[in-house]
Amino acid sequence: MSKRTLVTSALPYANGPIHLGHLAGAYLPADLYVRYKRLRGEDIVHICGSDEHGVPITIAAEKEGVSPQDIVDKFHEQNKQIFDDFGIDFDYYGRTSSEVHHKTSQEFFTKLYEDGVFVQKTEEQLYDPKAQMFLPDRYVKGTCPNCGYEEAYGDQCESCGTSLSPTELKNPKSAITGDTPETKETTHWYLPLGDFQERLEKWLETRENWKPNVMGQVKSWLNDGLADRAVTRDLTWGVPVPLEDADGKVLYVWFDAPIGYISATKEWAAQQGEPEKWKTYWQDEETDLIHFIGKDNIVFHCIMFPATLMAHGDYVLPKNVPANEFLNLEGNKLSTSRGWAVWLDEYLEDFDADLMRYVLGTNLPETKDSDFSWEDFQNKVNSELADVLGNFIYRTTSFTENYFDGKVPELDNPTDKDLDTLKEITKQKEKISKAYENFKLREAITQTMNLARIGNKYFTEMEPWQTRKNDRTTCGNTLHVCLQITAALSVLFDPILPNKMAELRKELNIDDGSSWDAISDSILESNSSINKGAILFEKIEDEQIEEQLNKLKERAADNEDSAKENYEPLKENMEFEDFMKMDLRAGEIIAASAIEKADKLLKITVDLGFEERIIVSGIANDFDPDEIVGQKVSVVANLAPKKLMGVESNGMILMAEEEDGSLKFVDTDAKPGSVIK
Ligand code: 2FM
Ligand code: ZN
Repeated sequence: MSKRTLVTSALPYANGPIHLGHLAGAYLPADLYVRYKRLRGEDIVHICGSDEHGVPITIAAEKEGVSPQDIVDKFHEQNKQIFDDFGIDFDYYGRTSSEVHHKTSQEFFTKLYEDGVFVQKTEEQLYDPKAQMFLPDRYVKGTCPNCGYEEAYGDQCESCGTSLSPTELKNPKSAITGDTPETKETTHWYLPLGDFQERLEKWLETRENWKPNVMGQVKSWLNDGLADRAVTRDLTWGVPVPLEDADGKVLYVWFDAPIGYISATKEWAAQQGEPEKWKTYWQDEETDLIHFIGKDNIVFHCIMFPATLMAHGDYVLPKNVPANEFLNLEGNKLSTSRGWAVWLDEYLEDFDADLMRYVLGTNLPETKDSDFSWEDFQNKVNSELADVLGNFIYRTTSFTENYFDGKVPELDNPTDKDLDTLKEITKQKEKISKAYENFKLREAITQTMNLARIGNKYFTEMEPWQTRKNDRTTCGNTLHVCLQITAALSVLFDPILPNKMAELRKELNIDDGSSWDAISDSILESNSSINKGAILFEKIEDEQIEEQLNKLKERAADNEDSAKENYEPLKENMEFEDFMKMDLRAGEIIAASAIEKADKLLKITVDLGFEERIIVSGIANDFDPDEIVGQKVSVVANLAPKKLMGVESNGMILMAEEEDGSLKFVDTDAKPGSVIK
């Protein structure tokens, strides 16, 4: 056994509320594991916190028209509370905007900089002149060079999962103005991951018991060969780069965020009154460092952060990274923007946290994507928590109360069946422990419920309602066995159902601290008193499930409607003949100039192949005359001539107007003069 374990759960971006997908990816599995280890009495610390930097935060702030600080303040508090309400029991929930974190990540950067680890490069990067800023990461969208998906981000294509840099995107567009970016030179510092490839490979060979989905992804990265990764960005929101001449530059969020685990451990240690204690968790080889994350974070936790830690030299490297796959919802991909999600605060308005902990726990996307459905939720609550576990506990405790005066009967001359059933406690305990140790949390939960099934079946087969009338010794033995199983369950189920099991242990009068080691077939002393249990799990009615499904569907429909609201309504149909009256032609702008006293208008000369035309167009607010020369356009060529501000206009250049009122050319590669039909 290791001396101590440090568990980290991915720091969620503080740009929105926590939903089921988050819970299934990292936080529930981490909490199950940590609670189990705590019951074992092991030295274990669980660290998490808000990831408050990076483009996701600034984009959320821009969308809401508030400052990034407002956004992170709101969601940090909200998410911290929701984790608490869900029983996700972190030892410390930090935030990357804290002073300690800024200092820690800057010190990390400085050490690596001074050790000559980084490569400094001056390169052309995408720049939006209208917004006057570079466009890193999600500030640019375009077509994925790998799969052709047209909405890929500058850091990643969400369709094929490829990690990208903005300049790799085809047809890039600024996420701020929608314009095609220019390129401009800028200087950044890169972590040369290639230099760490061999060390990373050797280190990975020594990792034991990693999940195949995680190791598979890491090996594929290594097979492709590791490239340099920029650790700085041209942005104003983030941890400032601690170098002179680095104004307007901050650390890349994926450089600073994992260091957030260290900063939060420092803050935790200070809170404990032992400020140096963080070092034993990060710098002592006897620590097992475990990162719980979702699969989209694998490369950062298995390659980039370990390389950073190696480069620094003073830190332990992760022992395991049990990343989960994704959770789908009712057969569809979860999507917060489409409203296809179950938010935890909303869930808690209707149901207990423990119910979801159990149901989701049995269905974690451990080896492949899994699906959450409300029908399955109802089935599992009703047929497993209520019918098996709840029923077993209730019938055992109420029978004891009613017929044995609330006292645990002695075991008196037990049969083999009684003894064999008692032995199931330690047998199941071993299976459950093994599953937890191997991060097989679904299996741990299934095996825990199996002990309740064994107890329930035994109760039914022994028919104590019969034996109480004619064979009181047998009846007493039956109840003794069932009560010992109940007591064992109250600890075995504790990581999964912490609230319900605390209630149960109170009823059994064993609430004075529970431990895994103490789980045995004789937790309860004979003749000790217990109270009749309340019904621990109520059944869920069909209407309650329908309500949830309706909520989900309505929200998804609302989102669709509001997306539609952004579009102009369609005009009435017209006849084909009417359309054919229009003569549309491809053209190319060959000259453009402003028109005196007409702020909005430009005088444009268009080459139509067979002739050159003057067209007056109301696009001066969107385009400078110089920038549109050479632009391919579509022209209504047979519009009757009209004088505008003293200039005769002979046609119209077609423009598309986007939601925000910005204008785009309807360009075509066709030769000027070609008919558009
Ligand atoms: O993917 C995310 O939500 C990131 N905020 C996770 C960061 S994990 C760690 F590195 F901090
Ligand atoms: Zn792609």
